Amino acid sequence: MSDETLANLSHEERRFEPPQDLADHANVTAEAYDEADRDRIAFWEKAAERLSWDTRWDTVLDWDDAPFAKWFVGGKLNVAHNCVDRHVADGKGDKVAFHWVGEPDDDTRDITYGELKDSVCQAANALVDLGVEKGDRVAIYMPMIPETVVAMLACARIGAPHTVVFGGFSSSALRDRIQDCDARVVITADGGYRRGAPAALKPAVDEAVSQCPDVRSVLVVRRTGQDVEWTDGRDVWWHDVVEGASTEHTAEAFESEHPLYVMYTSGTTGKPKGILHTTGGYLVGTSYTHWAVFDLKPETDIFWTAADIGWVTGHSYIVYGPLANGATSVMYEGTPDTPHKGRWWEIIEKYGVTILYCAPTAIRTFMKWGKEIPARADLSSLRLLGSVGEPINPEAYIWYRENIGGNRCPVMDTWWQTETGQLMISPLPGVTAGKPGSAMKALPGISAEVVDDEGEPVGNGRGGYLVLTEPWPAMLRTLWGDDERFKETYWQRFEKQGYYFAGDGAKLDDDGDIWLLGRVDDVMNVSGHRLSTTEIESALVSHPRVAEAAVVGAKDEQTGQAVNAFVILRESALEGGEEAPDDLIKELRDHVAKEIGAIAKPKSILVVPELPKTRSGKIMRRLLKDVAENRDVGDVTTLADSGVMDQISEGISSGK
Ligand code: WT7
Repeated sequence: MSDETLANLSHEERRFEPPQDLADHANVTAEAYDEADRDRIAFWEKAAERLSWDTRWDTVLDWDDAPFAKWFVGGKLNVAHNCVDRHVADGKGDKVAFHWVGEPDDDTRDITYGELKDSVCQAANALVDLGVEKGDRVAIYMPMIPETVVAMLACARIGAPHTVVFGGFSSSALRDRIQDCDARVVITADGGYRRGAPAALKPAVDEAVSQCPDVRSVLVVRRTGQDVEWTDGRDVWWHDVVEGASTEHTAEAFESEHPLYVMYTSGTTGKPKGILHTTGGYLVGTSYTHWAVFDLKPETDIFWTAADIGWVTGHSYIVYGPLANGATSVMYEGTPDTPHKGRWWEIIEKYGVTILYCAPTAIRTFMKWGKEIPARADLSSLRLLGSVGEPINPEAYIWYRENIGGNRCPVMDTWWQTETGQLMISPLPGVTAGKPGSAMKALPGISAEVVDDEGEPVGNGRGGYLVLTEPWPAMLRTLWGDDERFKETYWQRFEKQGYYFAGDGAKLDDDGDIWLLGRVDDVMNVSGHRLSTTEIESALVSHPRVAEAAVVGAKDEQTGQAVNAFVILRESALEGGEEAPDDLIKELRDHVAKEIGAIAKPKSILVVPELPKTRSGKIMRRLLKDVAENRDVGDVTTLADSGVMDQISEGISSGK
């Protein structure tokens, strides 16, 4: 990356000191960094004391067979016992584990730890009756309802690794995942509510399972009451076999490295990778980071991760981390605009949410809808905000801080991955002065570096590849059934040094703080200058008329690659038609030139009504690249809304 580009990225001068009151009572102080630096292993050993172990470990980390890590070797524990039973035993049976909010108005349930324990035991007994044994895989394809959490914990309780497949995935995606991990039982529901209407799930399961002859049982929760096809002998209703089962179930302790779950995520090839997480280290990593980064006070906080349980964010910070910590969480089934665009803020007001954790894409959507909407609700209960999933551009960060956080809540920009299992790079709320756009530093006990092609640290002020230089407790252990691909994907790039290659570009600013620059495959090379898509998007979004932007590098005869931008305008910018699109496009190009340098000026800017996004909210730049390079648009099946590409193509042909 050129020095000019990097210098421009560091022009962010704003700093937000931790609120004094938070700092005075913070769970974690700056001392944690020193402690971990002195002895990283002892640091994680202490973190492991947070959990209740049936048998204590004898070795904290066994890295002899690197990159295959073993944490807390010799230790035994049960995850469900740690997440539920022990809190009940501690007299917290009446404490609310989840304030669950269904999408239809007034469809809510509060589930206490005591109730959760009973349900998990019932579901565990039902799974055992269905023949599920320790080590068997169970696929879960569910809406955001309490039974989804119960199903996961029941699997964990009996040592049957689950693979949760996001409910928005197609039947063929579900089929591939069931086949890849050879699941024999599938847990699903008739459907869930989305955008004000029941959305069926069971038909996709029926279709998938018709090609999975080894699936012997499908356990179905009745959520929407819609009609379902029924295969006798295979399909069973949850209310028949779970709700009638015994609430007594003795949890067996499993070895620390016993598989807990497999979560599929896309790689550079077409075949999804089955990320394997195991028991002890994963629960240590998620519970510690949930407590440290969100400054969780289990007695008073109301925590809300506004993500789907079908993604790792939901696994680690709706289910395992918060429950291990005995937290009270909010869980919401539906979309943010149902029945109106203020739904989230209404939920925060109603339950007095104190900590909100969501994605920049959501924040930018709220920006587009306008600040008047959150302003109508009382958000004064909030004390801390989090962001995850992609770099948060400074404008979104500031908007979030001001309009949601009332300028009093610190923003935790948390970098991590499905593979890392736990938060890795983030500010600490009582310690770090936040910089909009920077995820700041590796957390205590985590070692990250930014290196060049040779694996040498680039030093402050320079850009390179993000690597993790030491193993961490919640790290992936392998790719399900594919140790070779695990080694190739993550460990081959910097094999000599033994570093984990994250696939992200990053730079260190003059203070040594980390700025994530997007996936390395999203870095463009224009006339020999390396440019980050993220950086140009951020520049575009910093223009008052732009709500959201996506940038791709498209082949260009002259410059190698050229910058192609797609922008969504803010609602107010469309009103009145005061400005012709041509003038606006020139203005935006000039704006980028002003923010970054003439080299970054997009060659083309298309105003579009929507951007193509996956159901997890990631922009599918691959499709935009197809448009920019005048190719037929490739596979659109993983788009949240497959009509988006048609709208974009229409916009181009009509010359908009
Ligand atoms: C990739 C991992 C971890 C849960 C959600 C996504 C990007 C994630 C940040 C952040 C910059 C981020 C990275 C990473 N990413 N968080 N705070 N700042 N980039 O999980 O689907 O496994 O994606 O998301 O590119 O590699 P995932």
